[in-house]
Amino acid sequence: MKKIKWSVIGAGGIADRRAIPGLLLDPRNELVAVMDMRPEEAERVAKKYNVPAFYSDAEEMLKTEKCDAVYIATPVFCHYEQAMLALKYGVNVFMEKPITLGSEEGEKLVAAFKEKGLQLTIGYMMGYHNLHVKARELVQSGGLGKLNLARMQFSCWYPEIPGAWRQKKAMGGGGCIMDLAVHCMELFTSITGEEIAEIKSFYATKTFNYEVEDSAVIAFRSESGVLGHIDVNFNIPDACSIAKLELYGTDGCIYAENTLSQVEAGKLKYIYAPQGGYDAAQDHAEGMAKTYYGKGGNMYTKQFKAFNKLLGGTPDYTNAERAVRIQKLCDEIYQ
Ligand SMILES: NC(=O)c1ccc[n+]([C@@H]2O[C@H](COP(=O)([O-])OP(=O)(O)OC[C@H]3O[C@@H](n4cnc5c(N)ncnc54)[C@H](O)[C@@H]3O)[C@@H](O)[C@H]2O)c1
Repeated sequence: MKKIKWSVIGAGGIADRRAIPGLLLDPRNELVAVMDMRPEEAERVAKKYNVPAFYSDAEEMLKTEKCDAVYIATPVFCHYEQAMLALKYGVNVFMEKPITLGSEEGEKLVAAFKEKGLQLTIGYMMGYHNLHVKARELVQSGGLGKLNLARMQFSCWYPEIPGAWRQKKAMGGGGCIMDLAVHCMELFTSITGEEIAEIKSFYATKTFNYEVEDSAVIAFRSESGVLGHIDVNFNIPDACSIAKLELYGTDGCIYAENTLSQVEAGKLKYIYAPQGGYDAAQDHAEGMAKTYYGKGGNMYTKQFKAFNKLLGGTPDYTNAERAVRIQKLCDEIYQ
């Protein structure tokens, strides 16, 4: 079995918490080096996962280690330059969401990867959740009839933290829209196969004393006319942050709870109830209902497996181009 040689840029955050453990669950992956701008973090992560080399300079690592791919998990403002640096050294890139601070940089990045024929993939892992795969099957096989309405809610408690890059506009590009709503936008497209054509939002920094928004209500319309809304907040206590994903069609609906997550958890209720005529009693008689559960798999392992399949073959920019379109929607909201 040929191993895929990986390195990591930005090893201390989500890389350590979720992505490296997910990567190493697949024996095809070999982690040869990690880099973090904080040398002690690079060393700590290297020791934790038995990685032979660690660096505090990304260029030195890319130059020294001959890797097939690099996983970039740094703050958003670093993404463009670090992905371009990897490209310079001929390394395929798997980079965390959102792609870049704005869509212009994202477009340039995708064009540069296309020109060199290297793979660029952005880490929208939630599409790999078994319940989102189920939702995709149900919607795309017509199990909801004609789709009319989408509704998503995603939140957490994120108070002021001194030095936090996500709380600075120039470093994160925005607040809960850039951090949470982008996942909802990506899931809408990946589940329904429909692009968001038009978007509007009210957003505010209501609770906390930082530069970026801590609350947003987003309304959108898809290409085929599905109407949707997304609520994202940084100011709802974690215990009350029950993530929701709902899709309603002419013949049925999907109601998923706590599936927008870093773990493959939560549940999804599917109701199939084609109605026909008007029922004046509106007694909400249930149709055929079935509940599915998260299987506890690892979405990070699955996203890296999908990426590995593309290496050595024809690059696929579907995911990166979608990430740029999501960035355009964010740009529109902030403008
Ligand atoms: N897909 C997901 O599940 C998920 C979850 C959380 C974060 N993210 C994304 O991952 C990225 C990082 O977020 P995070 O929460 O891990 O942030 P973080 O601040 O917790 O960790 C970032 C790490 O990068 C290092 N770093 C910062 N600047 C660097 C630079 N210039 N060069 C090298 N290393 C540098 C920091 O020292 C730190 O160890 C963001 O794009 C974020 O949106 C994705």
